[in-house]
Amino acid sequence: SCSASSVTRSNSGPINRYHFGTDDHQIRFPDDPRDRIWQKYEDVSEWTDVPDTVNGIVQNSPNDTYNVPSAVMRSVSTPLNDSRMDLSWSSDSSMNVDIATKFFVVLYFAEVEAIQGNALRQFDIILDNNTLVSAFSPISMMTSVFSGIVQGSGSHGISLVATSISNLPPLISAMEIFVVRPLNESSTYSEDAHSMMIIQTKFSVKRNWAGDPCSLATFSWDDLNCSYTPHGPPRITGLDLSHNNLSGPIPDFLGQVPSLIFLDLSSNNFSGSIPTNLLQKSQEGLLTLRTENNPNLCGTDKCGLILNQSKRKTKLVLEVVPPVVLVFVVLLILAIFWYCRKKRPDVTGATNPFENRRFKYKELKLITDSFKTIIGRGGFGPVYLGYLENGTPVAVKIRSQTSNQGNTEFFG
Ligand SMILES: *[C@@H]1O[C@H](CO)[C@@H](O)[C@H](O)[C@H]1NC(C)=O
Ligand SMILES: *[C@@H]1O[C@H](CO)[C@@H](O)[C@H](O)[C@H]1NC(C)=O
Ligand SMILES: *[C@@H]1O[C@H](CO)[C@@H](O)[C@H](O)[C@H]1NC(C)=O
Ligand SMILES: *[C@@H]1O[C@H](CO)[C@@H](O)[C@H](O)[C@H]1NC(C)=O
Repeated sequence: SCSASSVTRSNSGPINRYHFGTDDHQIRFPDDPRDRIWQKYEDVSEWTDVPDTVNGIVQNSPNDTYNVPSAVMRSVSTPLNDSRMDLSWSSDSSMNVDIATKFFVVLYFAEVEAIQGNALRQFDIILDNNTLVSAFSPISMMTSVFSGIVQGSGSHGISLVATSISNLPPLISAMEIFVVRPLNESSTYSEDAHSMMIIQTKFSVKRNWAGDPCSLATFSWDDLNCSYTPHGPPRITGLDLSHNNLSGPIPDFLGQVPSLIFLDLSSNNFSGSIPTNLLQKSQEGLLTLRTENNPNLCGTDKCGLILNQSKRKTKLVLEVVPPVVLVFVVLLILAIFWYCRKKRPDVTGATNPFENRRFKYKELKLITDSFKTIIGRGGFGPVYLGYLENGTPVAVKIRSQTSNQGNTEFFG
């Protein structure tokens, strides 16, 4: 018998993903950790379930990247009274396919029935009249994956045909059909894409965001606009994060997405102030920035402006004033140094009376009260009692030179 079936496009995009068997439940998370949605393939009266007589989990081989969950693999269809199964599909008109359109078909098989004695299940897998695999025997409790590509907008068929030596009918667990779209656009400018990834993970944005943000205009991320130019990768120009219940500060790397001209952050729970770079871009008319209805955000209008200006002032203090202070301090040190050097001979300026001070004759006269009190006599002449400006008593010994000229100079 021939079971014709029409595959129609699901709402989730140009993917059709089916499990077989008569259980009409969708299989998805938590059975599928990747939350792929496996819908039940249509009812075919000539088919029945393969008796699931082996306990345990259907395994995936280590190099199997599809990782179809066991729940999908254990639900298996087989013909009631036939040695073959035929499936066909044609795309519906909304899919915008033409004769060049290619479909990527993935088929999943596993043996879930305990095979007794000399029983053998062996079949050919045929895709649009081309044999994809011949004389295949499903492996007990282990997924086998086969894929192929068919082209064209018309009807396509998959046939599973028992070989002449097979005494058990064919079976099938699951099937996926993808429309292949040429990637005629390069991927998003990496820094832009990176920013989006951070936003997605940091804020757990609940949007249909998967794959490259801009690549393939028709599949670009929701609430995101990109610019496509013949040269260079696509850049992000618009981002709508409104009504997302996002909280915390607005990430300031958003201001570093240079091509961004529209950013809607409204109706969230952002807090703190609007990053300066975003505000600046907005004030320069380079960015349409919407931030209304964020009750904890200080910066929907004037508040943010003031905050950011004061931030700028702080920066000014930190970055511009210190060199001024430094110069001033250097000048001050020089001035003090110069002042001290200058003051050194000055009686009133000295602090340490035991410093090696030089005095003019006039000063010595003052200190000793005109050499009034002689307290001793050294080898070079009399020693006078004197008092420094701070009251410290000192002995003033008049240095006696051998030459008169020396004395004259000293006293002069
Ligand atoms: C199975 O199919 C064969 C030939 O198509 C037919 O003769 C036979 O009666 C069928 N058996 C059952 C149980 O339907
Ligand atoms: C990519 O190619 C498809 C098919 O040729 C075309 O419809 C689509 O507009 C192209 N996308 C861009 C962004 O050029
Ligand atoms: C994207 O572009 C469309 C059409 O110009 C516009 O209506 C929409 O608001 C834009 N969205 C973003 C997030 O930029
Ligand atoms: C909004 O964020 C603040 C912290 O900034 C938090 O206290 C509050 O619970 C959040 N409100 C909602 C509705 O998430």
